[in-house]
Amino acid sequence: MTRFPLHLDLAGRRVLVVGGGPVAARRVRGLQSAGAVVEVVSRAIVDGFPDVPVTPRTFVPDDVDGAWLVLACTGVVDDAVAAACAPRRIWCVRADDASLSDAWMPAVARVDDVVVSVTAGRDPRRAMALRDALTLAIETGDLPLRRSRNGTGSVAIVGGGPGDPDLLTVKARRLLAAADVVVRDRLAPVVPIADGVEVVEVGKVPGGPSWAQRDIEALLVDRALQGRRVVRLKGGDVHVFARGMEEVTACFRAGVAVEVVPGLSSALAAPTYAGIPLTARGVTQSFTVVSGHLPPGDPGSTVDWDVLARLGGTLVLLMAVGRLGAICAALIAGGRGEDTPVAVLQDATLASQSVLVTTLARASVEAQGVTAPAVVVIGEVVGLRQ
Ligand SMILES: C[S@@+](CC[C@H](N)C(=O)[O-])C[C@H]1O[C@@H](n2cnc3c(N)ncnc32)[C@H](O)[C@@H]1O
Repeated sequence: MTRFPLHLDLAGRRVLVVGGGPVAARRVRGLQSAGAVVEVVSRAIVDGFPDVPVTPRTFVPDDVDGAWLVLACTGVVDDAVAAACAPRRIWCVRADDASLSDAWMPAVARVDDVVVSVTAGRDPRRAMALRDALTLAIETGDLPLRRSRNGTGSVAIVGGGPGDPDLLTVKARRLLAAADVVVRDRLAPVVPIADGVEVVEVGKVPGGPSWAQRDIEALLVDRALQGRRVVRLKGGDVHVFARGMEEVTACFRAGVAVEVVPGLSSALAAPTYAGIPLTARGVTQSFTVVSGHLPPGDPGSTVDWDVLARLGGTLVLLMAVGRLGAICAALIAGGRGEDTPVAVLQDATLASQSVLVTTLARASVEAQGVTAPAVVVIGEVVGLRQ
């Protein structure tokens, strides 16, 4: 028999399930998630049966009256259920013998607004295995999820991790697979983007041209208001020295739907990729992440370098290349030992990654050749590097 796949909108439809065993329970859950109004006729129900109205008696033919769809899941009176449905022209799905059924229940999964339903040669386990594999491929962004028609626009502010595309989260990959527009930072991971997707590079190249932050925000809002799905792909995490908050605020103000997806910060990933634990039992119980964007003594800086020098623990500096000499001098002046180990981690997680190990006293001279991006780790844990 040839099957014609048809998706039924069950929202608000009355569906009768005859039977109270595990198969009926599974079907009821699926019907509930599709929004159906489910009623059950069964003398007994298994433990953990979903919370739906149950008529506790044997099936009688009049039970099907008024139902939009009937599922016979008894294994005992399914013939009688089907016989009651036929003259009333009500679809009946039989769990006992698919070949006798008017209709079949596929294995179904929903991922965001995509519904996958699979039938597989009347073999439910095979259908479920295929359904699960397809669901995984959708969830991990391996299948083309992009809409071909504009719909409701949205912005996803996504942390892309420190650079290695393998460190993108599953959610980031899925959002990228569905994106119409990708707005990239310079340090965001380089990932393949489907043809036809608008890619805008807004990265701030040191010493080169750069987009003003307000122009980036206006771009995100503009594309979303056009009904497009925008991914704002950032390096590391969205809220670690990354101005994610301003972009979220701009979307809120414009009434644009916005979601924020955390990413793995270079502050955490770079030491790990270099074999340095940020904390180690018996050595240090804290780490502090600090921006080195402004040098010690700069009137705009809110960092108290004296306090950091006395704090102990591990210090992680971002954006410190070019100011490392001044920062190390301030830490030594504040009381941190000259021999304190320092690691300078350039291009962390990328093929070009390099690791320089030095000390607080020698760092400014030995790290002269280092260029951004680099993460600096200061503290005894550098000595534990493996
Ligand atoms: C504007 S901050 C953004 C930080 C980012 N949001 C994060 O959580 O990693 C840029 C700084 O992050 C650090 N950084 C980012 N990616 C890096 C990488 N692959 N290797 C070393 N440092 C990196 C550098 O210190 C760089 O100057």
